[in-house]
Amino acid sequence: MEKRIKINILGLKIVLKNPFAVSNNKIILTKNGKSKRLFFVKGLKVKYYGANNRIEFIDKVPKMKNVRISCGENCRIRIGASSYAVKNLDINARAENSEVNIGRDFSIESGCIDFHGEPNLQVNIGDDCQFGCDIRFDTADGHTIYNADGALNTPKSITIGNHVWLCRQVSVLKGAEIADNCVVGLGSIVTGVFKESGRLLAGIPAKQIESEQYKKINWTRLPNKSFVKCNTIHIELH
Ligand SMILES: CC(C)(COP(=O)(O)OP(=O)(O)OC[C@H]1O[C@@H](n2cnc3c(N)ncnc32)[C@H](O)[C@@H]1OP(=O)(O)O)[C@@H](O)C(=O)NCCC(=O)NCCS
Repeated sequence: MEKRIKINILGLKIVLKNPFAVSNNKIILTKNGKSKRLFFVKGLKVKYYGANNRIEFIDKVPKMKNVRISCGENCRIRIGASSYAVKNLDINARAENSEVNIGRDFSIESGCIDFHGEPNLQVNIGDDCQFGCDIRFDTADGHTIYNADGALNTPKSITIGNHVWLCRQVSVLKGAEIADNCVVGLGSIVTGVFKESGRLLAGIPAKQIESEQYKKINWTRLPNKSFVKCNTIHIELH
């Protein structure tokens, strides 16, 4: 939708702001099938560049600090309730029909989800994911590489399963998929599709670590000393 309306009356050019260009934008909380509109959310700043955007929190708004969301047109951002904090996260969905779905019990120290203005793409993040500092998700590259047959680096959606730990400084690029219970090592760049759950992925580009002891792993938010001490812990390996 045009942000400005241009009128030409007898050669006099008048430019007016189109009030409908940034209308019908809502932040809502949905609980037990009922939705209520929120007008202020602590720790969250939202900027709308178009109309019909929805930011939806499911069951409860998680504790947030310095979270910024930019929406283009017709975007859907869904974030589940969390026992942990969501910090220093930028969601740059200044595109059309962008979708971000983040499950329950999500935590992040700092990072950015960027659609680079490319429309109709999704970032899906499952339940209980733990992201460290300097995490980047890029569903597009921002500029085009092409050959005689056309564009090579086409934008694509990104999917992260449940209970995935991204260590510090991990980048996840267009088309990447990471299965449940995976860990991605510090500084890795994930470009591929990893369908096998419970694997350690690391490197540039990230590969599955094939050493025997890393073929079936899981992880916990507990630090090592507590994990070792805690003999009641139920170790789940799928
Ligand atoms: C992923 C991680 C936790 C694994 O630790 P670990 O179990 O002790 O693993 P190891 O160091 O023994 O490495 C296991 C294998 O993965 C490889 N690997 C581990 N991290 C890697 C990385 N960042 N890049 C490339 N390869 C890596 C090792 O070379 C080794 O490969 P090999 O089996 O082929 O020799 C650790 O490497 C890491 O990234 N730590 C940072 C955690 C972090 O960011 N914490 C901040 C708080 S969220």
